Amino acid sequence: MEKHTPFFNLEKATLSDLNQLSEMEKICFPIDAWPLLERIGALILPGCVRIKAVYIDKMIGFIGGDIRRFSGTGWISTISVLPEYRRMGVGGALLKAAEQEMGMPKVKLAVRKSNLDAQKLYLKNGYNKIETWPNYYQGGEDAVVMLKNVQIGNA
Ligand SMILES: CC(C)(COP(=O)(O)OP(=O)(O)OC[C@H]1O[C@@H](n2cnc3c(N)ncnc32)[C@H](O)[C@@H]1OP(=O)(O)O)[C@@H](O)C(=O)NCCC(=O)NCCS
Repeated sequence: MEKHTPFFNLEKATLSDLNQLSEMEKICFPIDAWPLLERIGALILPGCVRIKAVYIDKMIGFIGGDIRRFSGTGWISTISVLPEYRRMGVGGALLKAAEQEMGMPKVKLAVRKSNLDAQKLYLKNGYNKIETWPNYYQGGEDAVVMLKNVQIGNA
């Protein structure tokens, strides 16, 4: 958010955001959209963080994360920003907020090998590629796994 003045708010998402999250998934993940149960789980399960970016009462971005305390790892399970609000710092702000709320020293995520836009966001935010999971995604595409060592409290 260094060079952008935030025009949006970050808020905790709840089950009342299910419809807007479903719309966002449809638009942002034409191939990998979560099934309904996973969307509900992301909004209600304990041990998860769920943060939405809001602009004039509308969800314009969302991030979900799972806290895995035994391994000291937070997993970013999803991140999306509506196309018309991209490249304005929303994704980066969601990422930092989730890292801080999960409170784990390591944060990991998996991303399609071909999704270079998302990989640029992660690289810019301090993530490094650590491994590849072959055939991970529907259609057989590999996943690139990325890791960040997080300084808790220093967003
Ligand atoms: C990936 C995504 C969340 C990025 O959200 P965003 O709000 O545009 O991200 P930001 O504006 O915070 O981008 C921060 C930086 O990341 C990099 N970046 C992000 N999107 C980029 C793109 N399309 N092309 C090149 N660099 C990009 C840039 O360095 C950017 O900084 P800059 O705009 O000052 O150059 C968004 O493109 C999206 O929702 N994509 C579809 C869903 C998806 O693929 N999610 C990830 C699944 S693993």
